[in-house]
Amino acid sequence: MRDHFEIRDHDAAGRIGRLSVPSAGVTVETPALLPVVNPNVLTIEPRRLREEFGAEMLITNSYIIRSTDRIRDRVLEEGLHDFLGFDGAIMTDSGSFQLAEYGDIDVTTAEILDFQRRIGSDVATPVDVPTPPDVDRERAERELETTKQALADAETADTGEMLVNAPVQGSTFPELRKAAGRHASGTDLDVFPVGAMVPMLNAYRYADVVEQVRAAKRGLAPDAPVHLFGAGHPMMFALAVAAGCDLFDSAAYALMARDGRYLTVSGTEHLAEMTYFPCSCPVCAEHTPEAVREHDDDETERLLAEHNLHVTFEEIRRVKAAIRSGNLLELVDRRARGHPAMLDGYRALLDHADELERTDPVSKDAFFYTSHEAARRPEVRRHHDRLSRLAVPDRLLLTESNAPSSHDYDAVWRVKPPFGPFPRALSETYPLTAEVPDRVDDAAQAAAADGVASLADAAPEAAITLGHDDWCAEALRRVPDGIAVENLQTLGQ
Ligand code: GUN
Ligand code: ZN
Repeated sequence: MRDHFEIRDHDAAGRIGRLSVPSAGVTVETPALLPVVNPNVLTIEPRRLREEFGAEMLITNSYIIRSTDRIRDRVLEEGLHDFLGFDGAIMTDSGSFQLAEYGDIDVTTAEILDFQRRIGSDVATPVDVPTPPDVDRERAERELETTKQALADAETADTGEMLVNAPVQGSTFPELRKAAGRHASGTDLDVFPVGAMVPMLNAYRYADVVEQVRAAKRGLAPDAPVHLFGAGHPMMFALAVAAGCDLFDSAAYALMARDGRYLTVSGTEHLAEMTYFPCSCPVCAEHTPEAVREHDDDETERLLAEHNLHVTFEEIRRVKAAIRSGNLLELVDRRARGHPAMLDGYRALLDHADELERTDPVSKDAFFYTSHEAARRPEVRRHHDRLSRLAVPDRLLLTESNAPSSHDYDAVWRVKPPFGPFPRALSETYPLTAEVPDRVDDAAQAAAADGVASLADAAPEAAITLGHDDWCAEALRRVPDGIAVENLQTLGQ
């Protein structure tokens, strides 16, 4: 891996980074959304993508350019930037997608990389094999070997200043994805797209998407820039960024518009069925759905594509702002309420809370407990791990209520679901400043009980008493036997 990527901020496994693209003379801030530009159909002029929508980078397909007589020579002559009228960075794909769709293409990695360099691409792609999900392991392994060979061919090709993608394949086998990630990281290539995710994305298999991304990330270097190939629905950006993705490309804005579909951050609507626009982008501010429908088909499609792109970039900015404020997981939680498949994705992400914890900042804006999923967040995990480092007094009262005015314990600590116990002196430190609802749920109580268990584990000699506020049976079951337990509500009666 060459060093073109700098990470500025973290939240969970998400980050704000800067990818420097030397041949374009630009630095692209990530998370970044690359609009897919069909070189034959410019639904929205690339110049406008940059000026009106803020696209710093776009992606187009070098294989289509190479196989279209009408434009090939013009692009070779003018160069891609002038041909498209775009002075940001341009990534080009290789024809692998066509390979996956039609089974055969007539170009090698060496040939297509040479073509990409000659048309002036800034980030090129070798001919990887996008192995679909759920194939048998032999096929996934065999095709991964072909992809590895493509990366080797890319390493020896004369690519000049151009950056080169090293796609990570492996179908739905996490071990293969991890091995592919490690191998790709070991090459001198530059950007690391997780590939063949389109079938999973189209089927809303967000838990599988998270599993494969996390597996690839386990093999990749922590500071490798990661592209989620083919992911362009704004609904899933927060989730994918929190899992560690930095780049996205959207064909969805244009493809959906062609089908009369209107993107939102919580799903897709049909223009035909809409009475109101829930958006304030220039298109939605100036039109009613009825007015958009009354235009001719091309104009309706263009207006829809513009709205789709506005919500898409808006969500990318919202994700970046969330990383800066340290509330990316609150945003993922909100998006998870938009669709049950997103909730599966969020739950799959939280299965890897220990991995997310490694890059999660120790201090951020207040932790908001807004759903029982939050009981599994990395901050809770970290608090439990840290309990083992605290000096525990011999006779200790842990209580959810105020300290009693007189007692004969050596110390009285607070208990706050979902974190569990901590010395009162830590009350004002992150994440214990968390905003938690008064009506605590079972998951938060159970997580607090796990915290009590961690403490008891770390101090087996201590005599610990727990005063809890009517915890559920599951939480009480998780409190170790040696701890004296009192229900504060019963005591109060
Ligand atoms: N576009 C969407 N998925 C893929 C992939 O796996 N490889 C390439 N090269 N392009 C893609
Ligand atoms: Zn809009």
